[in-house]
Amino acid sequence: MNKGLLALVLAAGEGTRFKSETIKLLHPLLGKSMLHLVVDSLWGLNPQKMLVVVGYQKERVKQEPFSPEVYFVEQKEQLGTAHAVGAARSVLKNNEDKNLLVINGDLPLIRPQTLQPLLREHCQQDNSLTFLTAQLENPTGFGRVIMGDNLIRVVEEREATPDQKKIKQINAGVYVFKIKDLLQTLPKISNYNKKREYYLTDIVEIMTREKKKVNFFSTPETEEVIGVNDRYELAKAVEVLRLRKIKSLAQEGVTVYDPSSTWIDLDVQVGIDTIIYNSVVIEGNSVVGKNCKIYPFVHLVESKVGDEVKILTSTVIEESTIEERAQVGPFSRLRPQTVVKEGAKVGNFVEMKKTVFGKNSKAGHLSYIGDSEVEEEVNIGAGTITCNYDGQKKHKTYIEKGAFIGSGTELVAPVKIGKGAYVGAGSTITKDVQPYALAVARTRQREKPHWSKKKGIKKCVE
Ligand code: UD1
Ligand code: CA
Repeated sequence: MNKGLLALVLAAGEGTRFKSETIKLLHPLLGKSMLHLVVDSLWGLNPQKMLVVVGYQKERVKQEPFSPEVYFVEQKEQLGTAHAVGAARSVLKNNEDKNLLVINGDLPLIRPQTLQPLLREHCQQDNSLTFLTAQLENPTGFGRVIMGDNLIRVVEEREATPDQKKIKQINAGVYVFKIKDLLQTLPKISNYNKKREYYLTDIVEIMTREKKKVNFFSTPETEEVIGVNDRYELAKAVEVLRLRKIKSLAQEGVTVYDPSSTWIDLDVQVGIDTIIYNSVVIEGNSVVGKNCKIYPFVHLVESKVGDEVKILTSTVIEESTIEERAQVGPFSRLRPQTVVKEGAKVGNFVEMKKTVFGKNSKAGHLSYIGDSEVEEEVNIGAGTITCNYDGQKKHKTYIEKGAFIGSGTELVAPVKIGKGAYVGAGSTITKDVQPYALAVARTRQREKPHWSKKKGIKKCVE
């Protein structure tokens, strides 16, 4: 732990340019909120304490599952970035001899290794303030860094003259302060500007005039300083994170054939030698094992996939578990709480929900299996339906080991098919079937010879 360092994330603003009912910083990028990404990155610097300034929708922000815990301070009115830092005054007063890293909450791409040199420079040069900058081809929207004789200052885009707007050195929105000097200078910032806000950036000029040591560190990692202010910038940030994730999987031994069309959330784990084809989406805390094949248009959400599993084209799997060597798809849908056991096969147009589907069992085609326990080596014929809902309650279907369900069968739950039993095709089963029995529950076929001819129905068949 870096005992000399505290971190403070500014997260009180609404983010009006997002035009959302939800505070900007809670919008997710690859499964994690913008704020969460920033906090996680800062933990990479091992600060002694993580402070988050909250205000707009503070109750929602406080519900984010931060681990380790963060310490919230409240900015009652959103009067600007300097005012937001002021909200932490009482905590900072108890830590005057330490450094504080302040960061805007809308920098989801920043990595600890990019902040490390900023911190190092700050300590080595014994500065009062060191802030992060970058040289951007298109600096529009950012505060510009202006250097005069012994004077550094930051001018916001909206306050800048046309000449100042040509400057490409921008303020990234990350600052390291000596806490004592910060507390001295912060009250001197005024809101005499176009937005009537207390700009934290004004502290650069004030501190320089006060002969405090101020410097900046210009990072070559220009991509990481994207501040996400609107939804198009969110899309651009997602693109960077998405490729970063796919690259790290590739480096760990996973084949992703088409990074441009593949979406894998940041917390997803994938085992070595697994192959992921184009247009696959894997979300949440999903885990995919080794040596799997995930074919195009598969969508996995919060699911566990064992080793050597094949998931064929256009299959949707939510909150389910697929054990090793099983095969699912094409065009299957597994809804929550489904477990497909080792070596089982779930084929095209099969839907399952809250079902355990036993080892080596097969449901090849066009079936609905819900609220069911299916043991091993069971064969489910095409077009089998578990009728689990009576209009009021859901009921369970049990199919024991080795049973054979003929095609086009309806199993009206609650019902149990005993082990080794056979159910004839086209049956509507409403009572339990005993082990090893054959149950046929359909009307017998009747035939009236020459019926159509006698009726005089003429068809061109002769
Ligand atoms: C800010 C900088 C700008 C810099 C840019 C980098 C200022 C005045 N300007 O501009 O120089 O180039 O970031 O991306 O700081 N916030 C609060 N309370 C408030 C206002 C804002 O907590 O009262 C938080 C916001 O939630 C946000 C962060 O501060 O996370 C930055 O605010 P934002 O309005 O996005 O600043 P920019 O205009 O982008
Ligand atoms: Ca911003």
